[in-house]
Amino acid sequence: MDKKVVLITGAGSGMGKQTALFLSTFDFIVYAGTREPEKLQSIKQTNLIPIKLDITNSSDIKQTIDTIYKEQNQIDILINNAGYGLVSTVEDVSEEQMYDQFNINVFGVLRVCKAVIPIMRKQNSGIIINISSFLGKIGLPLLTLYNSSKYAVEGITDSLRYELKDFNIRVNSIMPGFFNTKFARENLKTNFETFDKNSPYSKIVSNLAPVIVDQINNGNDVKEVAQMILEIIQNDKFKARVTVGDKAKKFIPMKKELSDEDFERRVREYYKI
Ligand SMILES: NC(=O)c1ccc[n+]([C@@H]2O[C@H](COP(=O)([O-])OP(=O)(O)OC[C@H]3O[C@@H](n4cnc5c(N)ncnc54)[C@H](OP(=O)(O)O)[C@@H]3O)[C@@H](O)[C@H]2O)c1
Repeated sequence: MDKKVVLITGAGSGMGKQTALFLSTFDFIVYAGTREPEKLQSIKQTNLIPIKLDITNSSDIKQTIDTIYKEQNQIDILINNAGYGLVSTVEDVSEEQMYDQFNINVFGVLRVCKAVIPIMRKQNSGIIINISSFLGKIGLPLLTLYNSSKYAVEGITDSLRYELKDFNIRVNSIMPGFFNTKFARENLKTNFETFDKNSPYSKIVSNLAPVIVDQINNGNDVKEVAQMILEIIQNDKFKARVTVGDKAKKFIPMKKELSDEDFERRVREYYKI
């Protein structure tokens, strides 16, 4: 069989959906994993197969992976894309909100990896691409939980690269800047207390939150992410992690060049925080 089999998580919208559509125009069979596969049924694209996937549920994941394996007898590429952003101060965040942020953005990635790796190991081949964020290398106030979840995704990439190398499984990370998707419009979760007008954090909330939301909603086109994913798949020697989008290309090199304190000063000036 010539066609590589791809599984993408969180493929119901944004980067995941665009990547599923894009890859399915090439020599791939693409399983678009989503909580609501019925929403993708109207797409009549050969090689794009919507499949139910809830990354919070290990038995659901196993069932999905088993189905794909039964149908194709291989899984070549996993794209861990599903994720959302929690906007809350640490002081206000609830146990449930903390857990949920990590449950989706971190444990979800680990659960799907855990289910797919045995198949890739037996095949002696595979590619895992983790969609983290430029905020996986850079902190911002109100985004501590999101930041730390994406820092964790970066750690997962780094460790798995060693762990899976002997089995010819390649692990890469993409750190997008801001992209115009449903991320800020529908999937951001905000803490009620942090956003209360009487919150002691109201100054930082009013300075930063609308700017970030605006930058996401006017962000880059997700086609850039899909194109980058194709390049990573096609190039065995691709570097471990890559930035995509204006904000990532601006801040990540700056973070590498400057001291922590100088970088922080630049970010404070830029966001007026
Ligand atoms: N947009 C940006 O500016 C930006 C920047 C850097 C990194 N990222 C990262 O890029 C990835 C894709 O995001 P996107 O921008 O394409 O946003 P999106 O349009 O909101 O898509 C995110 C997908 O993640 C899944 N998801 C969202 N909230 C979830 C929840 N509470 N539980 C389970 N699954 C959930 C959904 O999958 P289903 O509904 O299909 O199940 C959704 O389609 C995320 O990991 C995000 O953190 C985005």
